[in-house]
Amino acid sequence: MNTKMNTRMIYLKPNTVIEPLFARWYAWAHLISPATAAMNITGRHLKIMNSYIQAPQIHSTAIKSPKMLGGPFMDYKGERVDDIKVLRDQTLEKQKDLIEFSDAVKELDKMLKANANGYSLEPLYKQVPEVLKGYVELVYDLNNNPSFRFFETLLYKSKFFNPSFQSIAIWLTNNDERPFVLSTPKLDDEMVLHLEVPFSDSIIDYLSKMKRHAKPHQEVKQRLKLSEQQEALFETFFTETPPPRYRKYDGEKVRMRYFGHAAILVESKDVSILIDPVISYYGYHSDVSRFSDMDLPEVIDYVLITHNHQDHVLLETLLALRHKIKNIVVPRTTCGALQDPSLKYMLESVGFTNILEIGEMESLNFADCNIIGVPFIGEHCDLNIQAKICHHVKIGKFSMLFVADSCNVEPRLYEHTQKVIGDVDVIFLGMECDGAPLTWLYGPLLSDNLSRDKDGSRRLAGSNYEKGIALVDVFNPKEVYVYAMGQEPWLEFISSIKYTPESNPIIASNELIKVCNEKGIISERLFGEKELFYTKEGYNQENYKIEDALTTEEV
Ligand SMILES: [Fe+2]
Repeated sequence: MNTKMNTRMIYLKPNTVIEPLFARWYAWAHLISPATAAMNITGRHLKIMNSYIQAPQIHSTAIKSPKMLGGPFMDYKGERVDDIKVLRDQTLEKQKDLIEFSDAVKELDKMLKANANGYSLEPLYKQVPEVLKGYVELVYDLNNNPSFRFFETLLYKSKFFNPSFQSIAIWLTNNDERPFVLSTPKLDDEMVLHLEVPFSDSIIDYLSKMKRHAKPHQEVKQRLKLSEQQEALFETFFTETPPPRYRKYDGEKVRMRYFGHAAILVESKDVSILIDPVISYYGYHSDVSRFSDMDLPEVIDYVLITHNHQDHVLLETLLALRHKIKNIVVPRTTCGALQDPSLKYMLESVGFTNILEIGEMESLNFADCNIIGVPFIGEHCDLNIQAKICHHVKIGKFSMLFVADSCNVEPRLYEHTQKVIGDVDVIFLGMECDGAPLTWLYGPLLSDNLSRDKDGSRRLAGSNYEKGIALVDVFNPKEVYVYAMGQEPWLEFISSIKYTPESNPIIASNELIKVCNEKGIISERLFGEKELFYTKEGYNQENYKIEDALTTEEV
């Protein structure tokens, strides 16, 4: 036995990806909640797999076209048909309960449409498909339109929630290129180690901590119980070189660091607050400089989530940070509707124990901070979805409003809000004003086809110029920042967005920034990284300074 080898202390390389998978598909929130997972298996995964098996060439051609980015095309150059056939057959067999569930939801919809005509729904319970009996309540809206709601917590306790479908893929990334993950499953690859562990498993915390804190080689080996074949690959994920040293912010000001997309870290010497974490890895060269997970503090006091879209609730980042997140704040939903699964239940099921729900105009207080849940409107294709909230964060007298993708379709909403919370110092907003059509994200949940023109009219769109400037006018901010809206290269795998100068979100945000500047408001579109400092005593132009983002101290 090589004693030196076994007692050496090792770190997990900072560019190691721990990718959560559900039945080999990239795990996002709708693949955790049982009802939405069932619908995505039949309405997305099986459809894409069958299409690839039938016509792999169409997929390999579509993948090359920037116009098709984010479409239902698998990024395997048409070369993995046999493997996809195996995955398809495994899915049909292993997921048969969820497939049956999905068929039953469509049957229930049909039954309600045919039979619920304003009279009591009670007799119809007998006609609810067998597998759904006891998991749904039948309801009307006030106009006698029939629908149903799930008892979602019971679904998590049923055979329809099976953590054995979850696994993790561990691999090293050396660039920002990744296939669009909602359309491409993760097949076997000689450089990828698959571990059959549920997301709640503490091994994820153990490995994630190892990016900063070394562990004895022997202990790691024992903990993982790998086969000989796996061990050789696993060794390549480790290093004896310590990562860059993180320096905690201990100044008197409020420090804001933009990590890309809608991910922003707000720190004072007392608290750290991270909004919508989608965090890049450290340890490979890129032309776009950015803060990475190496720039996050050892403890994050509060993670704030704005809404249940895959680029704002990124499980890959959340699981990797779980061990350092003290509290995670999510928008409250209790509606039980298929399209609106609870973020709280979802996070609980994957091992988070410290989840706080916040509703509209509710507040949270800690240290010298106050957080208010501000209504989030639109950007959800006119579906009744409650799991969305903007966060108003106040530290001392200094205030920030994180609007995320809220689309200001009714400016009166924020006029009413302003009367309660007052003006804000800094606004961060998304202006992805084109947005994908409803079916891109919610298509698998629909029982009926939606006509193309209706689909095109109901989009996942954020504010355009008019809506954005109305928001600015109502809150009188001193600074306005527009997010990069998916343009950072490390976001492409989940957002599938590529803009040109002619793209509407770029034109609209340029106009907003120009008009803000004319009004004397500091404004810019963020991209990659940004660091700003503010005083807690309230916004003070004299104390304001923009510093070039400091890179992590190298040691
Ligand atoms: Fe969104």
